Amino acid sequence: MWMKVIGFSALALVGTAGAGFSYLYYRGPATAPPLDIVIEPTPERLKRGEYIFTTVADCEGCHSERDFSRFNGPVIAGRRGVGTPLPLTEIPGKLWSANITPDKETGLGNWTDGEKVRAIREGVSKDGRALFPLMPYQNFRYMSDEDVYSLVAYLNTLPPVKNAVPKPEIEFPVSMLYKGVPRPAGSVASVNRADKLQYGQYLVTMAGCAECHTPFEKGAPVAGMEFAGGHVFEIHGGPKVLSANITSDKATGIGAWDLTRFQERLAAYRDYDRNGSPRVGPEKFTLMPWLNFSRLSGEDVEAIWEYIRRRPAITNMVNTHPGAPADISRR
Ligand code: HEC
Ligand code: HEC
Repeated sequence: MWMKVIGFSALALVGTAGAGFSYLYYRGPATAPPLDIVIEPTPERLKRGEYIFTTVADCEGCHSERDFSRFNGPVIAGRRGVGTPLPLTEIPGKLWSANITPDKETGLGNWTDGEKVRAIREGVSKDGRALFPLMPYQNFRYMSDEDVYSLVAYLNTLPPVKNAVPKPEIEFPVSMLYKGVPRPAGSVASVNRADKLQYGQYLVTMAGCAECHTPFEKGAPVAGMEFAGGHVFEIHGGPKVLSANITSDKATGIGAWDLTRFQERLAAYRDYDRNGSPRVGPEKFTLMPWLNFSRLSGEDVEAIWEYIRRRPAITNMVNTHPGAPADISRR
């Protein structure tokens, strides 16, 4: 089983902070006490939380067992949120996503709501351990209070599934350095949805578009290449895919697209999502959350477009499916 993934850009940052090295060795992550709250599961919150979980932030993509013999790896029935290995070559060691179903023994069943909020936005587990920053808490720290409450309300309704998932086995020195990544997030106000650009930036942050669409070297994004594509996702001993250039460059990015084309592209696999995804060979392997994003609301796709279309043009020709027949390599 393998997964979608976003980067762990902070590794390079902490990597250069040599002075903090011994400090991190002896101390745990920077952490604040979890909020003392019990989240009321209103119908609005459950609906919003499900949308964030399955669509905008695609928690489901990383935390579920998926059937990659089918296009885009649909979630296996009954395996939503149970945790799974993430065998990507860019990870220095072995990593599993956690079981985030409410199972008491192997999942979040004994966690308080405040502890769940803290893990999602600040990257600190119940026991105070720093989470490996492939879990996108550096993005989720901008998730509004109301959105994270909705998400936790929804998490609490997932069917509990017993599935013990190992802790990460990350190689030294990264194993020690990432303890420096968690930071308290405080309280986060909701964004004004009427401001499409700001709302679009919020959605793009929750969705991790930048981390996937920026090339990485040694666990860090390459400066000046934001959204220019070419991030390599390779499964150990398995298939490989590169992200596309989604900057406004006309020749190698999506600068020649209009809103309609963007809407159609994001909705291209809606039929697969609704009626079942077909069996495909490894040459069609992709980690772009096509099935999930086909469920984005019209309002949200427009806001994402408002933000994406303003990304500065960067010329970078990417062959997204190297080795595959030319017809599926691009569009
Ligand atoms: C790119 C993959 C990825 C995405 C997307 C992702 N996670 Fe995670 N998550 C992980 C990994 C990997 C871990 C385990 C890290 C570790 O153990 O150090 C984790 C850990 C967690 C934990 C801590 C569990 C524990 O036992 O300590 C929670 C809670 C969690 N994720 C919730 C979420 C939620 C909610 C979302 C969506 C808003 C989400 N995750 C999105 C990869 C991801
Ligand atoms: C988990 C990694 C990942 C995330 C998250 C992700 N993408 Fe992608 N995306 C890819 C990969 C890999 C490809 C190329 C392979 C393919 O087309 O399936 C791609 C392709 C695309 C394409 C097709 C470009 C073309 O030339 O046809 C568009 C448009 C796109 N992504 C937009 C987005 C937007 C907008 C977001 C955020 C809302 C996003 N992506 C989030 C990995 C990702």
